[in-house]
Amino acid sequence: MASDQSSIVDAQGDRVMTMLRERALGAMSRAYAPYSGFRVGAALLAADGSDTEGCNVENASFPSGICAERGAVAAAVARGIRAFDSITIATEAEEPTPPCGMCRQVLEEFSPHLLVVSVTSEGREARWTLDELLPRAFTPKSLDRR
Ligand code: THU
Repeated sequence: MASDQSSIVDAQGDRVMTMLRERALGAMSRAYAPYSGFRVGAALLAADGSDTEGCNVENASFPSGICAERGAVAAAVARGIRAFDSITIATEAEEPTPPCGMCRQVLEEFSPHLLVVSVTSEGREARWTLDELLPRAFTPKSLDRR
């Protein structure tokens, strides 16, 4: 968890997780993914209890597309929010999918101990910590010089 052990996630438990799942599925339904057909939604829960959504937005110039998770981080930071407790990712995949490597790195910048929840439209769920998904990460501290 990003902030501390008495975080919103622990205090509000299932009710918040259910809300985040609904938000992530809603964002997924608004994804723009005409090239891959793989829609992704994300709902970031901030330490202040607010939530911010993102979805993948693809582009005819394929590498210009952006993932749902990074879209959510960018939207939250633009609102002045930089401390996150959890992210819920929603897809229509068979199994819950973890965030891609680039998104793990972006999430790491702000919340190295983030709880990552992945859900499918069929109701499957998996949970990891970002520490698990990105061990020995390159962080802002890595830029320190002698
Ligand atoms: N995608 C995400 O939005 N998040 C991930 O963590 C993995 C992949 C998107 C990128 C692309 O639009 C589509 O899913 C297929 O890779």
